[in-house]
This record gives sequence, C-alpha cells and structure tokens, in this order.
Amino acid sequence: MSRLVVVSNRTADPRNSAAGGLAVALGESLQQSGGLWFGWSGKILETTHANMDDPPLHVQRAGRVTLATVDLCRDDYEAYYSGYANGVLWPVFHNRLDLAQFEAGFAAGYHRVNSMFARRLMPLLKPEDIVWVHDYHLIPLAAELRRLGCTNRIGFFLHIPLPPPIILAAIPQCQWLVRCLFSYDLVGFQSERDVGHFARFLATESQVAVEMLSGQRFRAFGRLLQAGAFPVSIDVDEFVALATAREGRDMYQRMRTEYSRRQLLIGVDRLDYSKGLPQRMQAFRMLLDKYPENRSIATLIQIAAPSREDVDAYEDLRHAMDQICGGINGDYGELDWTPIRYLHRNVARKRIAGLYRACRVALVTPLRDGMNLVAKEYIAAQDERDPGVLVLSRFAGAAEQLREALLVNPYDIDGTAEAIRRALSMPPEERIERHRALMMRLRDQDIHWWRKAFLDVLTACETRAVVT
Ligand code: ADP
Ligand code: G6P
Repeated sequence: MSRLVVVSNRTADPRNSAAGGLAVALGESLQQSGGLWFGWSGKILETTHANMDDPPLHVQRAGRVTLATVDLCRDDYEAYYSGYANGVLWPVFHNRLDLAQFEAGFAAGYHRVNSMFARRLMPLLKPEDIVWVHDYHLIPLAAELRRLGCTNRIGFFLHIPLPPPIILAAIPQCQWLVRCLFSYDLVGFQSERDVGHFARFLATESQVAVEMLSGQRFRAFGRLLQAGAFPVSIDVDEFVALATAREGRDMYQRMRTEYSRRQLLIGVDRLDYSKGLPQRMQAFRMLLDKYPENRSIATLIQIAAPSREDVDAYEDLRHAMDQICGGINGDYGELDWTPIRYLHRNVARKRIAGLYRACRVALVTPLRDGMNLVAKEYIAAQDERDPGVLVLSRFAGAAEQLREALLVNPYDIDGTAEAIRRALSMPPEERIERHRALMMRLRDQDIHWWRKAFLDVLTACETRAVVT
C-alpha cells in the first residue's frame, strides 16, 4: 500500500489539540492512516536566509505518524508566512482586498520557502508515496518538487475559499499561482462554489489557453488537472465521545451549575477578521437592545484564540474587540450579570466539547470561511434529547451542507439579532428535529469520508498527468 505524505505549513502532534481547522483535520485523518507529516516546526531562527544553508530537519514519532519539520529564519517567516501567505493570500481569498499588503519581497520569500520545503522533502519521498499538500502557504510546492524530478502523484487541498475571478486577478502573481496549480494531479476545494470560481478564472482571466474537459478536468501548460469539491469535516464519533468523556462532562457540569439561571451562547474562533466577531458582538448588543427580556438572562461566552499577531490587521482586531466587548458589558451589565464573557486564549479541545454541550446557542458567523469546523463540532457535541441551535453564516462553506441551521447574513446586524432571538426561544421539538437532520448530514460526510474521497480521486487520476 502507498504511504501517505501530508505537507502543510502548520503541523501539530496529532494527539494534541490545536486552534485551527487544518491542524485539527489533518491530525484526525493522519492518526487513522499513519504516514509522514512534513511542514514548519513553528520555530523561528534569529538569522536571515542569506546567512545560512537550508535549515536542518527535525524528525519525531507521534503515534502512527512521523513528523518531519524545518525551522524558518526570521526574514523567511516575515516574507513567506506573515507577508505573502497571511498579508496577501489570506485577505484576498477572503474577499478583503482592502487588507492586502502587496509589498515587494513577500512573493520572493514565499517562492524561496516553497523551494526550500521541496529540497528538504524530496529526499524523504519514496517512489510510491502519495503526496497531499495543504493550503495557501504551499501553492508552488508541487512545481518545485517537479523541478527536482518528483513524479509522485501530488494532490492539493485548499482549506480556505477561492474568491471570484475578478478578485483573484488583483494579486499581481495570480497567473503564476494558477500555473503552479497545474503541477498537481488533483486540486480539491471546500465547495462547488470554489470549483466554479476556479473554472471561471481559467475561462476568463487566464493568459494561457486552457482546454476545459468534462468532469472538472482542465488541460494547460502540458498537464492535465482534475479539480473537485471535498468539504472537510470532523471525526464525528470522536467528538460525540469527547463531549461526554470526563473532562467534557466536568466542564458541562461546571457551566450548568455556574449559569443555572442563564441561557448560554457560545462563540469559538481564532481571533481573525474573517470570523465577523465585531459584527457578532453588535448583533448580540442589538438583541439586548431590541428584546430586553434577554437581559440578565443571555450570556455570550466568546473564546478567541490569539492568531497571527505579527500581522497588523490582527492587532487592530484585538483592540477593536476589547473595546466592543467592554462597551457592551459597561452599557448593559448588572452587578450579578455580565453579558459577554470574552476570553482571548486557547481552550483544550476536551473541555471545548463539554462547553459546546452546555450552551443553548452557537454563533458561527464568519464574513467568509472556507468551511468552519466549529459549526460541525457544536452539532456533534449536543445532547440529542435537548440539543442547542446553530446560528450559521451563509458565507461559511459549512452552510452548503448544514442547511437546517439558522442561516444568517452576518453583515445584517438586525437580521442576525432576530435569528439569535429565534434560536434562544426555539421549542424543543424544533430543536430536536433540526439537530437530527444536521447530525445525519455530519455522519454522511465526516473526516474519514473526506480523506478517502480525496485520496480515491487522486489515486484514480491519470498517472503522471504529463501531456507532451
Ligand atoms: P479556522 O481553521 O479558520 O481556524 P475552523 O472553525 O475551521 O476555523 O477551525 C478552528 C478549529 O480550531 C476548531 O477545531 C476549533 O475547535 C479550534 N479552535 C478555535 N478557536 C479555539 C480556541 N480559542 N481554543 C481552542 N481551540 C480553538
Ligand atoms: C486556517 C488555515 C490553516 C491554518 C489555520 C491556523 O485554518 O486554513 O492553514 O493553519 O487557519 O492559522 P495559523 O496561521 O496559526 O497556522
């Protein structure tokens, strides 16, 4: 059987928790199959790339997985990770051209780190390995591996949305990025909408003629590329078990005792501008304002994990959130009731599961999101006899699947406040019915389905799709 080699910028010990959908999804799927996981160690060396050779490789075992990682030197980290990946690709792919920092040097650093990753990874590869590269940090990796003579099957999965062609076209290097995608055999997206954007970009913006074949296949640059939608998910059974295991149960009990007279709402996110946190807080404020019967009763627990703090937009958001939450608590709080409990930190996964279960409503209201695993985790953690209600942004990839959630437009503060009110007062029969339908959808396409669906298509792709 072929070995699975997973490559991603962010790696993690698959047995531990991590904030971020990619690490969680890959940890869960690799734990099952075993294999090699290659990527950044998370460490930054206080030197510059000009002053050193390629950084050394660290190899360690983590259960059935071998983790092989490299450090980044300071200037590479700044140009590749904070600069191009999180200062250009992340905002543009989330439709935030206003936040993009098209600075000279970022693209070069991005290219340089991808070449270095390829040089470090290439000697670890065996001829029959299946290579699966993840996310926007590593778009050029296959092209760099091919340059070194790699003929393995290589697949790519984009965890974030692909924007409409006209927005993607704003990236000065967009033609190069798209050309790089043609070094893969299969490119997977979160949703059919993303596949549509890709096909339309090729049809309307590509400077090179692309032949459109049936079955979401494309021929250009002497290569044949298969595309497809593979919505990522969670390990549903594992999460159901987590919610009732000891730590989850303890958390659930603690919350229920502490807030016995209240209705709890929960938000769990990385502190990221794509998550629509200020708008969510404003909607909660509107709820308290327009529907005062919720005052002294509804408490919103918002957990926001620190993220990408070297990027200005994240720093700005942190200040904005401190201000908004402080303002709402100051204006509406009582001596014995704080409307928003805002925590700027990570919470262990085992405890989060119990927390979800203790909360009557989850607010998952990103302005744009590739998928959003928190929405799926919340559903899986509920008590099926007395489940909570998911308020979900229609701009999250998850909304294509989780149609029985209360779908909202997060820019519409009034409409979101109204949906929260409806969620808080939803009768048990309706909650149970919606939850049952949502669980069926989750079980239909869980993390194991995702891994298998992608790898089955990758394995079936026409071998070495090089067309002369
Ligand atoms: P993203 O990948 O953009 O961060 P997702 O919702 O897809 O968004 O995935 C986030 C993952 O990180 C989920 O598994 C969630 O439980 C976890 N997570 C998010 N915020 C926190 C936090 N504050 N503490 C612990 N885990 C978190
Ligand atoms: C999203 C991205 C991942 C990333 C994660 C956490 O899920 O799609 O690629 O790993 O956010 O972000 P970070 O910058 O900490 O890796």
